Amino acid sequence: MEVRFDRMAIIGVGLLGGSLGKACIEKGLVKRIVGFGRTEIKLKMAVALGAVQEYSLDLKSAVKDADLVVLCTPVLSFGDLMERMKPHLKPGCILTDVGSVKGQVIKDVSAHLPDGVHFVPSHPIAGGDQTGVEHSSAGLFCNRHCIVTPVESNDPQVQERVVSLWESVDGRVTVMTPEEHDRIFSGVSHLPHVAAFALVNLIGEMKSNGVTIDTFAGQGYMDSTRIAKGDPAMWSDICLANRDEVLKGIDGLQMHLNQMRSLIENNNGAELQKEIRKAQQQRESLESKVHQPIVAIDGPVGSGKSTLAKELARRLNLRHIETGSMYRAVAYNALQKNIDIAEEDKVTDIAKALCIDFVPSDNGQRVMVKGNDVTQLLREEKISQAASLVAKYPGVRAVLTEKQREMGRTGNVVMEGRDIGTVVFPDADKKFFIDADPVLRGKRRYEELVTKDPGLDLEDVIHQVRQRDHEDRNREVAPLKQAEDAIAIDTTQLTIQDALEILVRLIQTS
Ligand code: DC
Repeated sequence: MEVRFDRMAIIGVGLLGGSLGKACIEKGLVKRIVGFGRTEIKLKMAVALGAVQEYSLDLKSAVKDADLVVLCTPVLSFGDLMERMKPHLKPGCILTDVGSVKGQVIKDVSAHLPDGVHFVPSHPIAGGDQTGVEHSSAGLFCNRHCIVTPVESNDPQVQERVVSLWESVDGRVTVMTPEEHDRIFSGVSHLPHVAAFALVNLIGEMKSNGVTIDTFAGQGYMDSTRIAKGDPAMWSDICLANRDEVLKGIDGLQMHLNQMRSLIENNNGAELQKEIRKAQQQRESLESKVHQPIVAIDGPVGSGKSTLAKELARRLNLRHIETGSMYRAVAYNALQKNIDIAEEDKVTDIAKALCIDFVPSDNGQRVMVKGNDVTQLLREEKISQAASLVAKYPGVRAVLTEKQREMGRTGNVVMEGRDIGTVVFPDADKKFFIDADPVLRGKRRYEELVTKDPGLDLEDVIHQVRQRDHEDRNREVAPLKQAEDAIAIDTTQLTIQDALEILVRLIQTS
């Protein structure tokens, strides 16, 4: 990718700042990246982890030559930082941020914005429970929403440079006004956090026989309070910076709570049910918007699962995600970078930085890695062998499992692999385990490969298939096995069309 900036200063090298640095370094978007922060050991760690190339504890030297400055600290620190940076920002410099609030940030930054410096606010929706540069990854923004909220004075070309920065790190950019941003995110992010903090504190204070009652918490409590783990400095700043919208949200929530309170107080079951039904329907309609069915298909090589998954996805108008390609892509990237497959840590880093896309095309689905079509390259036998080895590494599996969950989170997907029904989506709507006689599977694999490699020996291919089966079924983490609630289908005696028909019927009758 072409170099977009000469020198970038990342102000605050945590999860978001560190991930942006790693992504820009990996994609060659910036010549030199400097990190600024207050704690030297954290900055040293940022350099050691490859998130920035140098660091400074002095704001002036961090920003003075930068043509891109990205504010990645808690939002209420921006005003003070700007005041200190103002004399040192060079004319033409572009300033952006990753803050979760836009109106207040724009006020604070604009108050100290020198002439000739352009501020284009942005907000990548990529934060999580874990904070700090130690959790940063070059792939963090991959397929994530990234909101850009230009201000009136923004030059369209400058705005475009910021938009394309986020697109280059694989974010999905939406441009909107700061007001719209703050209203939307107070509702879908800030208020739910406030409610979770309050709920956890309330329940945490409650004791029974000297034991806090949350000891007995089940999945419902855990699900509804997961976001209470947010970083205190960051969330306090967000609430204060988006004060008006958050207060409106709290008032609205209180109104709804009071309404339910009075229905309960008055034993009004009929109305209470109406309220709950309304919420149930709202949530279900949200799920039907954002959560569509997940079909998990697992099985060994040559069982026909990939062809079936592809055809099934086409028939049911679902997305098709072939997770084997992700293990293959990790192996491919490692070999490209001359990394020894035996070096588990380095291979795991490759997995962390992996940005992979499955793009439908006229010739079937294409696998894109960093914008390049690698579909054919990934099918080579040397990649198959290496993929089987990298798939054993717990770190690689943890990272790819997380990516697969994220990719399948909104459902509407047929996901195939070895551990989809057992590990990645144990709650998938439908699970199939596709298998066939190993000799037949070897023959299928041979036919797939022989056109490109006429010297291939059938017995060798059968042997390799058995060997990969052995690796997949016997590894310690997430071995290939049938989930208890999966439907097993043996395709030894079936044509692909028949097998497909059986799958479609089993899905439609459930
Ligand atoms: O399905 P495939 O042949 O493209 O998979 C490549 C390798 O990745 C194979 O050795 C099994 C492994 N794999 C895995 O361990 N877990 C998955 N979910 C998918 C593939």
